[in-house]
This record gives sequence, C-alpha cells and structure tokens, in this order.
Amino acid sequence: MTAEIIYGDKLAESLRLEMKSEVETLKEKGITPKLTVVLIGDDPASKSYVSGKQKAADFIGIDSTLLSLPTSTTEHELLNTIDQLNRDTKVNGILVQLPLPAHINEQHVIEAIHPNKDVDGFHPISIGRMLTQQETFLPCTPYGILTMLQSKNIEISGKHAVIVGRSNIVGKPVGQLLLNNHATVTYCHSRTPNMTEYTKQADILIVAVGRANMIGADAVKAGAIVIDVGVNRIEDGSLTGDVDFDSVKEKASFLTPVPKGVGPMTITMLMKNTIKAARDQAE
Ligand code: GUN
Repeated sequence: MTAEIIYGDKLAESLRLEMKSEVETLKEKGITPKLTVVLIGDDPASKSYVSGKQKAADFIGIDSTLLSLPTSTTEHELLNTIDQLNRDTKVNGILVQLPLPAHINEQHVIEAIHPNKDVDGFHPISIGRMLTQQETFLPCTPYGILTMLQSKNIEISGKHAVIVGRSNIVGKPVGQLLLNNHATVTYCHSRTPNMTEYTKQADILIVAVGRANMIGADAVKAGAIVIDVGVNRIEDGSLTGDVDFDSVKEKASFLTPVPKGVGPMTITMLMKNTIKAARDQAE
C-alpha cells in the first residue's frame, strides 16, 4: 500500500482563505480580531515560530502585535505585562511563546492569562473544559491534527489511537480529543517497554516525541493512519519528522509529511482561536 499524503500546508492555505473572508465580515461589524504575542529572549527557533504566526495573522487580517522582551525579564514583570493585556479590551488573544527562560515558572505564566484570551488552550480551565467536553479553546496542534483527519473524512469513532509522547502541549491533549471523538486511546512514552507492541496495533498512530525517524515501518500496522508531529533538524541542516517517511509511506494508508504537515495547521488553528476569542468577546 502507498499512503495518501495529508498536506497540512494546502489545508492551512484553504482554511486561511476562509478565515480571511470571515475577518472581512467581522470588520464590517466593527470587530477586528487582535492577537498579542509575547516573546522573551532571542531563541532563533522561537523567533521563527513567532514570525510564522505573524505572517498568518497579516494574511488573514488579524491585528497582531509582537511584544519582544529581554531574557532578563523577571517573572513579576511578565505577570504584570499579562495583567495589562488581560485588561486591554482591544486584545482578544494572548500567546506567550514557550519555552521561557529557566528563571520564569511556565505554569505561573500560563495560569495568569485570562481563560477568555487563552488562544493556546494551555490554561488549566481550558484543559478542564476540553476534558469535560465543554466549549473552549482547543490547543492548536491537537486541534490541527483533528482537522486534518476530518478533512480526509477519516472515521475516529471505534478506532484504536496510539499516541507516542505525553507532553502537555501535544501528546496528552491529542489523546483526549480523540477520546472525545470515541476512539480507544493508548499512550506510549519513554518508560513504555516494548513500545512497538502497542504502535503496531494502532489504527491511528500519532507521534510527538522529537526524535528523528524513531518510528519505522516495522512499528506500523499495514493501512494505519500516521500523523507525524516531530520536527527535528538533522546533521545536513534539513528538517525531518519522528516517522521514517520513506518506509512508512509504503505501509500506511495516510501519512503526514515534515515539513508541510502538522506545523502549518498549528498556526492556522491559533488564528481560528483568535477569531473565536474576538467573536466571543464582542457578545
Ligand atoms: N512553543 C512551541 N509550540 C508552542 C505553542 O503552540 N504555543 C506556545 N505558546 N509556545 C509554543
């Protein structure tokens, strides 16, 4: 079997076009969605992610502001900044780019963002709402993965989904979203012995670890749907996923590439959440 490749960049492009016209309509009603991104320090990867978010916002017509603060910013200063953004009625969404410098407690920062402006979906209130299937901001990467599966009319209900990785940002919430859509979910992680025994049972395999090519064809069931969330820079400077694309392509029924897979969808869902924030706050 040769897998159908799910191109996240193509899907992201069509969703961004839809959002662009949605924002035009909102602007006619006097609503301009506004996102403020806070970046601490000058980590090149974070800068590059943030610039991708700004480009997407510009294209869609979302007003985006970058607040670039020095690495020396204290936790107290950052919490004050967030407090001001929480109070600023023009700001609909707040995103603090992670990771933060070691002297700032990430959880304190995440919990300082008002849940109504939590477009990342990282606040414990947002996570709790997702868990209990209430309306909320869904975390962007899991939301993007769900949208990719739905775009190919892939049935989730009744399927065995195996998640490799248990981060708060991707692994844990994507399993929860698939559970909410009636999948049977298994989590694997660094302490799982004989991991391939589990991955080989997956109808839907989601890999979010950050280890280049860790999943080969021998770890995949024939006909499985394989979603690769990993982004790894290898020795030759190119980007590669956690899944060995060339071998798994010959065994899976669907496969996402890296780059041009999940990454562009993450940014797109952030824009969707920002538009939702603007709509909700206008009510
Ligand atoms: N760093 C890597 N991914 C993300 C993300 O989705 N949101 C934030 N805030 N920081 C990140």
